[in-house]
Amino acid sequence: MTAHIIDGKSIAKQIRDNLKSKIGINNSAISPTLAVILVGDNEASQIYVRNKKKAADEIGINCQILELSSSIGENALLEVIEQLNTDENIHGIIVQLPLPKHIDALKILSKINPLKDVDGFSPYNAGLLSYNDQKAFISATPKGILELLKSTGTELTGKHAVIIGRSNIVGKPVSMLLLNNDCTVTITHSKTKEIASILRTADIVIAACGQAKLVKSDWIKEGAIIIDVGINREDGKLCGDVDFENVKEKAAYITPVPGGVGPMTIAMLLSNTYEAFCLQKNQKQCCCKDKKCHSH
Ligand code: GUN
Repeated sequence: MTAHIIDGKSIAKQIRDNLKSKIGINNSAISPTLAVILVGDNEASQIYVRNKKKAADEIGINCQILELSSSIGENALLEVIEQLNTDENIHGIIVQLPLPKHIDALKILSKINPLKDVDGFSPYNAGLLSYNDQKAFISATPKGILELLKSTGTELTGKHAVIIGRSNIVGKPVSMLLLNNDCTVTITHSKTKEIASILRTADIVIAACGQAKLVKSDWIKEGAIIIDVGINREDGKLCGDVDFENVKEKAAYITPVPGGVGPMTIAMLLSNTYEAFCLQKNQKQCCCKDKKCHSH
């Protein structure tokens, strides 16, 4: 079997085009506006933030980047967030992670107004997700992964999804999201014993551990769906957490790196921002008053 390659780049483009036309139709005096807080000079974060801004600008979302010194104190950062929370022209707020070591990320993320928390990283939205409450802002990467799985047309109910990685950004929320979609979920991590034998029982594999080409073809069940969240550099080339060339010969569907999950993360962040904008403006022109309006 040679896997069907899931084209995240083109699915993400469709989502962005759809958002662009909705934002155009809205034709409001106020544009949906996303504030991105970037603390310090982490090179990868700078690239991610630049890509978010470019994608936002292209579809009519105003993206304001607040670049702050790595020496900023926790209280000063909390004050910046408070100002954005009360600014009615700001509809979404994200804090690019990781933060410098001296800053308690949970304290900072807890400060974001849940209605503007378009990354879904605040404990409030993470809690709503665990309650399977539709009001939750679901973080962008897990939401993008769900869209990619749906694009295969596979019925998710009862499927065994094995997640590799337990991060707050991907592993934990995607586990909860797949559980909410009736998958049977196993979370594995760096201390898991017999990881290969667990993976061999997986109908769906979500690799989000940040280890280049960790997942080998003999770890995979014939016909599995493989979603690769990893972005690693090996010998100067980008690669995922999955040994793509070999695993694709065994899987039914697989995402490439680049061009799989990455573009979906940005598209879903923009979708959440538009959703936040609709919620806050409660505009009649909005396709509906339901916060899930982006999915029509
Ligand atoms: N760092 C790595 N991924 C992300 C993300 O999706 N959002 C934010 N805010 N920071 C990140």
